Amino acid sequence: MGLLGFLYSQLLVTSVYPTTSCAGQTIIVTGSNSGLGKEAARHFARLGASKVILAVRNMKAGEAAKYDIENTTRCNAAVIEVWPLDLASYQSVKSFATRASDLPRLDILLENAGITTNNWEIIKGIGHERTIAINVISTFFLAILMLPKLKSSAKDFGIQPRLTIVSSEFHGRTKFPEWKEPNTFDALNEPSKISFSERYPTSKLLEILLLRQIAPAIEGSGVILNALTPGLCHSELTREVNSFLTIFKFFFTRSTEIGSRTLVISAMAGVESHGKYMRNGKVDDTARSPFVRSNDGEKASEKVWEELRTILESIQPGVTGNL
Ligand SMILES: NC(=O)c1ccc[n+]([C@@H]2O[C@H](COP(=O)([O-])OP(=O)(O)OC[C@H]3O[C@@H](n4cnc5c(N)ncnc54)[C@H](OP(=O)(O)O)[C@@H]3O)[C@@H](O)[C@H]2O)c1
Repeated sequence: MGLLGFLYSQLLVTSVYPTTSCAGQTIIVTGSNSGLGKEAARHFARLGASKVILAVRNMKAGEAAKYDIENTTRCNAAVIEVWPLDLASYQSVKSFATRASDLPRLDILLENAGITTNNWEIIKGIGHERTIAINVISTFFLAILMLPKLKSSAKDFGIQPRLTIVSSEFHGRTKFPEWKEPNTFDALNEPSKISFSERYPTSKLLEILLLRQIAPAIEGSGVILNALTPGLCHSELTREVNSFLTIFKFFFTRSTEIGSRTLVISAMAGVESHGKYMRNGKVDDTARSPFVRSNDGEKASEKVWEELRTILESIQPGVTGNL
C-alpha cells in the first residue's frame, strides 16, 4: 500500500464499533495490560464474553488492566482473569499453553503482544534477537501449541475458533535482504548487519509470510487463522525507540480504542478471512506489500516456514505435528 492509501485509511476510514455478542466465549488476548490489547479485551468484556484472559508478562500491570476493564464495562468479576505469559521465555510460553489447554473451550486466541526496539539483545535461553524472538518465534510457538485446544473446541462445540495475529502496515517498510541468505533466522541474528529501522517491519512481514504457509495446513479443522493491521494508533509501542515512527504517530494516529476495533472484528471474522490479511475490519489482499504478493514473496514464505519449523522442533520435538 502506498502513502496515499495509508493516509486515506488512516484519516478517512473508521472501523465500525463492534456489536456482535461474545456470550459464552472464552477469549485470550496476549499483551493486554496496555494499548490495543487492553482495549480489545475491554470490547470482549463489554460484548458479554464468559472469560477474557489477559495474558501478560507484568502481573501487576495485568491486574490494573483487569480493574480498569471491570470498572468501565461493569462485567462480572469472574470474567477477567490475568495469567502470566512472557514471550521472551519458551518455558513461560509452554507453561501458559499447558494451563490454557485445560480450559473447557477456547473461542479466540488474539496474539497481540509485540515490541519494537533499537536495543540489540539476543535473549538468553532462546538464542534469537529480541524482536524476532517475541514477535515471531514465540508468537507462532504459542499459536501452534494452542492449535489442539482450538481444534477440539471447534469439534466439541460446533464453533469456528479464531487465531488472530496482530501484524502491521509497516510490514512493507523493509527490504528484507535476509530472505536470500542461506538461513534467514541466522542472518537476523547477525548484529553487524542489523538495520533497526527495518527490524520491526521485518518481524511483521515474517508474521504475514508465515501465516500464509500455515493456513493451508489447518484448512478444514474449523479454526480460522488471520492477520491484521490496526493502522497507526496511540499506544506504548514506541517506548523503546526514538524514530520517525514517533513523529509520524504524533500527526496520524488513531485512538487506541478505534484501532482495537480492527482486532476485535478480525477475531470474529468468517472463513473468508482464513489465511488472509485484514485492514479496517475487511479482508484486503491489496494492502499486503508488493513483496508479499510477488513470486519472491512466495518463495520467502516457503523458506522461512521451513526454517521456523526446524526452530520450533528444536524447542519442542513433535510440536509442528499439531498442524
Ligand atoms: N500502535 C500501533 O500503531 C500499531 C500499529 C501496527 C501494529 N501494532 C501492533 O499492535 C500490537 C500491540 O501493540 P500496541 O501498539 O498496543 O503497543 P503496547 O501498548 O506497547 O502493547 C504491547 C503489549 O505487548 C506486551 N509485550 C511486550 N513484550 C512482551 C513479552 N515478552 N511477553 C508478553 N507480552 C509482551 C506489552 O507488555 P508490557 O506492557 O509488559 O511491555 C504490551 O502489553 C503489537 O503487536 C504491535 O506490533 C501496533
